[in-house]
Amino acid sequence: MKRPFAELWGTGSYTPSRVVTNDEFSKILETSDQWIQERTGIRERRVAGEQETNACMAKAAAEQVFRETGVTAADLDAIVVATCSPDRLLPAQACDLQALLGAKHAAAFDVGAACSGFIYALNTAEGLIASEQARTVLVVASEKLTAIMDWTDRTTAVLFGDGAGATIVRPSTNGRGILSSYMKSDGTLAELLYRPGGGAVHPPDEALLKDHSYYIKMAGREVFKAAVLSMADACDQALARAGLAAGDVDLLIPHQANIRIIEATAKHAGVPMDKVYVNVERYGNTSAASVAIALDEAVRTGRLEPGMKVMFVAFGAGFTWASMVVQW
Ligand code: ACO
Repeated sequence: MKRPFAELWGTGSYTPSRVVTNDEFSKILETSDQWIQERTGIRERRVAGEQETNACMAKAAAEQVFRETGVTAADLDAIVVATCSPDRLLPAQACDLQALLGAKHAAAFDVGAACSGFIYALNTAEGLIASEQARTVLVVASEKLTAIMDWTDRTTAVLFGDGAGATIVRPSTNGRGILSSYMKSDGTLAELLYRPGGGAVHPPDEALLKDHSYYIKMAGREVFKAAVLSMADACDQALARAGLAAGDVDLLIPHQANIRIIEATAKHAGVPMDKVYVNVERYGNTSAASVAIALDEAVRTGRLEPGMKVMFVAFGAGFTWASMVVQW
């Protein structure tokens, strides 16, 4: 059997309506719109309200895919959710989403690969299809990062945002679908980007809240360097595995963490910036949801059309990195 086994069918996304600009951060932190824009490319981000849970955002993105494809919750064989900011630690976010959707026949589980999560989840869904364990898999990447970031830490707070994106993965039709993929991790570097407390090693207590170790900690400069190298490696791998050259790529959708990382990745991959989808200025880093939201926007705005080849690439905590080439 040869790829493509599985294709992405329909897209959806949800972003909260509340916009928080860089200027708003400059009122509560020692930062400025100029610093944030120059170092990251971010102008604003979306912040979920109390009622906008991870599951609600995931449901809204999924329902958009249902409307577009005609798939119903009852048709789903599996639900795979990529997230690092679930509503609660147990059960899986996917199970809460399953209950909200009423997807009675589905197996539901999460994939934890931080910002690379959407691509990891697509790979997982493809495996379920190829092994004939499922025919209709809902893949959702959903994040409420603003609930787990430290609003008093200027080195992380200005970077993140909330939102969700979704697609259905089903058996390939007419040669469309996943042509190649690549996943890699390096757990020895975990502590450059992590949440030190709140797990079973350091369960929540007063000290944890006081020292802010419940929140995301990041060694920005080291993460930056690793992101550039890893995303470049991932692009090379996905292209080689698909037997393609950079010139064959019609659209590159990279993880939206920092415009400088995006530009360096595109340059290394040999893809000109007019073939790169960028929305980091409006949403900041939405971790796993970032490629999924950008994909939905690219489809809706006509940047991605049937017949095109699109490459996804991402990097995140773990470290994890991943890439995928899809015949759209
Ligand atoms: N406003 C003003 N000054 C700031 C801010 C801010 N918001 N944040 C940091 N600074 C200061 C620092 O304190 C430092 O000051 P110092 O020189 O006096 O010590 C100075 O700016 C430079 O700091 P750097 O960290 O070297 O700045 P850099 O240019 O590297 O930009 C950034 C920082 C934006 C975080 C960058 O390193 C980055 O984008 N890193 C990668 C993030 C990423 O890709 N994450 C991906 C995965 S996320 C996930 O998986 C959930």
